[in-house]
Amino acid sequence: MTTRTLPQTRPRVLTGDRPTGRLHLGHYFGSLQNRVRLQAEGAELFVVIPDYQVLTDRDVADRLAEYVEELLLDYLAVGIDAERAVIFTHSSVPALNQLLLPFLSLISAAELHRNPTVKDEIAHSRQSQVSGLMLTYPVHQAADILFCKAALVPVGQDQLPHLEVARTVARRFNARYPHAGSPLFPEPQALLSELPLLLGTDGGKMSKSRGNAIALGASADETARLLRGAKTDTDRRITYDPQRRPEVASLLRLAALCQGRDPHSVAEQIGDGGASALKTLVTEAVNEHLRPIRARRADLEADRAHLRKVLSRGNTRANEVAEATLSEVTEAMGMRY
Ligand code: TRP
Repeated sequence: MTTRTLPQTRPRVLTGDRPTGRLHLGHYFGSLQNRVRLQAEGAELFVVIPDYQVLTDRDVADRLAEYVEELLLDYLAVGIDAERAVIFTHSSVPALNQLLLPFLSLISAAELHRNPTVKDEIAHSRQSQVSGLMLTYPVHQAADILFCKAALVPVGQDQLPHLEVARTVARRFNARYPHAGSPLFPEPQALLSELPLLLGTDGGKMSKSRGNAIALGASADETARLLRGAKTDTDRRITYDPQRRPEVASLLRLAALCQGRDPHSVAEQIGDGGASALKTLVTEAVNEHLRPIRARRADLEADRAHLRKVLSRGNTRANEVAEATLSEVTEAMGMRY
């Protein structure tokens, strides 16, 4: 679909991560590698660090500056090209946030209450009250996507309802405010990432904030310690059996991802070596694979001025794009005085 502005020469891809902790191996294999690939294939990459969205399920966003810096380190260390990508923070782009108001007018209260991902998050929230931000953040997220008229949004399964909101907002805006020429907003497409199922060291879902994850920025020793403590089972013979032995299977998958091989062959190699041989192999595989990434991360850590420049350049560019879109939106709505 064409848009009123100049057609994009390179497809825009938008994605993002809440600044709530350090990124881990699950993010790396599930999403970061994919972003680097899309960028290498010529996509124009926009990465939102949605600091306002942290407040959906907690009252206060702690250590924001620190977590934003950690995200920047992870992005650049894994190979996102900061010269070409637009990495920005929500709160630095007022025009993006203002899009929330017209967009909210396009979605009914019933639709907000029906969103299955929001329902699930409310069920698991540590807050006793559901805030208005929790209920409306999918519309805010539509603004993240539509302000830059992203064509593609790489997401996991849980984000699909939110992408549907963005598509609905685009469609309804175009229909309600028809304009000479082509519609203002293209409908963004989801690019569903096949998340490799990596469990946390406690056997639960690997999560930034549960203390069960191996962070990209962890040291080799920390990685060894975390993996030594990982939950497994008592069967000495190591087999790849995701149904019956989910924790062992997850470790095998992790080694296989790092070494570019099949988890069955990793299991055969270990044979009767038991959990300890498995953990030794996984530790070596992870540390080996992450070695260059961690080396780049350490170099970047020593140059914080560069990190600040990357973010400030991203914010400047995001503001230009958001202001252009907001001005098209207010004009289409007749707000020209
Ligand atoms: N909600 C997403 C998450 O928790 C983060 C996010 C915010 C996002 N805005 C986005 C993802 C826009 C894709 C597109 O992972």
